[in-house]
Amino acid sequence: MTEPTLLGLCGSLRAGSLNRMLMREGARAFGGTFTEGDLRLPLYDGDLEEAGIPDSATMLAAQIAEADALIIACPEYNKAPPGVLKNALDWLSRVKPNPLWGKPVAIVSATGGRAGGERTQTMLRAMLAPMRVEALGWPEVLVGSAASEFDAEGRLVNARYAQALASLMERLRTAI
Ligand code: FNR
Repeated sequence: MTEPTLLGLCGSLRAGSLNRMLMREGARAFGGTFTEGDLRLPLYDGDLEEAGIPDSATMLAAQIAEADALIIACPEYNKAPPGVLKNALDWLSRVKPNPLWGKPVAIVSATGGRAGGERTQTMLRAMLAPMRVEALGWPEVLVGSAASEFDAEGRLVNARYAQALASLMERLRTAI
């Protein structure tokens, strides 16, 4: 049997992103082949779309279509998902057929606040509904006060988070 393929979308673009660290931990737990999508897309603009969906958005759509499953690492910016992620979803919704339709998706989040991104995850789930995506509901992986939750190699230091993430990734594999 061929190993499953996982595509990661991280809503933070910065190099030292804790959400990217968490996403990569998820990928390690998932196993198989992992690719990271690039969310540095132009801002959605109907005039741009009329001239042709940008190559960067088309490429991301193709990567999603090819993947067996997705992990979305969703930061919390002012209690909501970052614009970078919403912008990507808006472009993807303009690709026909939307490559997200029916994809198995797991959401994880790492935040500076203690709640770990409960609100951003709830909002992301709502944003995914029109994409016909029902992201896995449990276990929730909400890493709060995240700056102290990773070691220098980007590995989770708390076994409780690592176990929850492993369980979520196991369920994601089963959902394929
Ligand atoms: C934040 N941060 C934040 N944290 C939180 O728990 N709740 C929030 O609503 C916000 N809002 C917020 C807005 C903006 C614009 C920034 C830049 C940051 C802090 C945030 O969780 C923290 O910086 C994370 O480390 C950002 O994720 P990455 O970049 O490390 O993946």
